[in-house]
Amino acid sequence: MALILQVVAIMICLISFGECVHVLLGDPVTFPEIENCPINDSGKLSKVENHRISPVAVRERGVWKPVGNYEDRGIHGAPFAFNSTVYTDTGLYELGCGGREHTIHLSVLIGFEESVSEGGPAKLLCYYTKVQHVHSIRWEKGQETVLELNVSSGEVTYGPASDGTQSLSPDGKLGDYSLLFNRVLPEHPGDYFCSVRTNGARQGWGDPAAVRLRIRSSPDRTTPTEVVEEVGSTTSTETKSTTEEEQIGTWAAVAITAAVVFVIVAPSVLLLRWFLKSTCSRTRTTYRGEGNADEGLLNGNPLKPMSALALKSKDNHI
Ligand SMILES: *[C@@H]1O[C@H](CO)[C@@H](O)[C@H](O)[C@H]1NC(C)=O
Ligand SMILES: *[C@@H]1O[C@H](CO)[C@@H](O)[C@H](O)[C@H]1NC(C)=O
Ligand SMILES: *[C@@H]1O[C@H](CO)[C@@H](O)[C@H](O)[C@H]1NC(C)=O
Repeated sequence: MALILQVVAIMICLISFGECVHVLLGDPVTFPEIENCPINDSGKLSKVENHRISPVAVRERGVWKPVGNYEDRGIHGAPFAFNSTVYTDTGLYELGCGGREHTIHLSVLIGFEESVSEGGPAKLLCYYTKVQHVHSIRWEKGQETVLELNVSSGEVTYGPASDGTQSLSPDGKLGDYSLLFNRVLPEHPGDYFCSVRTNGARQGWGDPAAVRLRIRSSPDRTTPTEVVEEVGSTTSTETKSTTEEEQIGTWAAVAITAAVVFVIVAPSVLLLRWFLKSTCSRTRTTYRGEGNADEGLLNGNPLKPMSALALKSKDNHI
């Protein structure tokens, strides 16, 4: 019974009747209220799980109270909310008031974080491959549309959460539907969600599904690191300076090697040449040394850091 309900509710969500709510893991979430629910009517919020329906909260005199396992995270009041979400909160909920029922599909998503300097550009990653199976790709900020790509026409329409400065990555052919900002302004930070849609209803998520855009608080001009991890940012700075030291070390080693090669090998070659009267090229040795130095520089170059870093390195599904 519960399973059938779950399947049906997913269908309803897809044809955009039930309500779809998405949130980043750990963030609070507010459940929608049933409209025009009389204050004295009792209400009930339940989670539909595989083989049962478990109560989440009850409504008395217009106020929601969490029950059972939800008592520690549920907030008393109206509308009902969790003060933080856990991964297993993803799923279907039934919201009842009087005789009416309403279905809510909650997605708890793993967020990536993109920290940029104010005024700088940003790229919020989103990839999707089976684009031929969907009608559109939509970027939302919170629950509001930023822009939507019509896959068949290639047309992009802008929503209320756009100020017209965002655009879509031009690399759609490579599965890249990232959201681009030319200049990140103070009003831009927030949680951005990338979903794929059919007839306007969400059918799935891009990869990653969500990115939290932040403006770096202390602009670090000396080391233009693209990545600032929320936890342990000092560690990453330390790692970076170590890398720089290593680079300097590599350079010194290369220089010393080149000098040694020149001082020891070059005279040996000259001697050999003297004795054997061969036409062995002395210069090649020197050039090889320089070639290695170039290689060292290439290898020593820090790789362009990924523009986003997983807050949690877990796969995100649904
Ligand atoms: C709701 O119930 C309270 C007490 O039971 C009653 O005083 C109040 O009039 C009721 N309100 C409505 C709108 O029915
Ligand atoms: C929020 O959750 C924490 C535990 O995660 C709990 O200690 C706290 O009491 C909760 N606050 C409210 C208002 O429910
Ligand atoms: C997307 O483009 C196609 C082809 O131009 C059009 O038929 C369709 O109505 C468009 N879809 C939306 C949602 O605008």
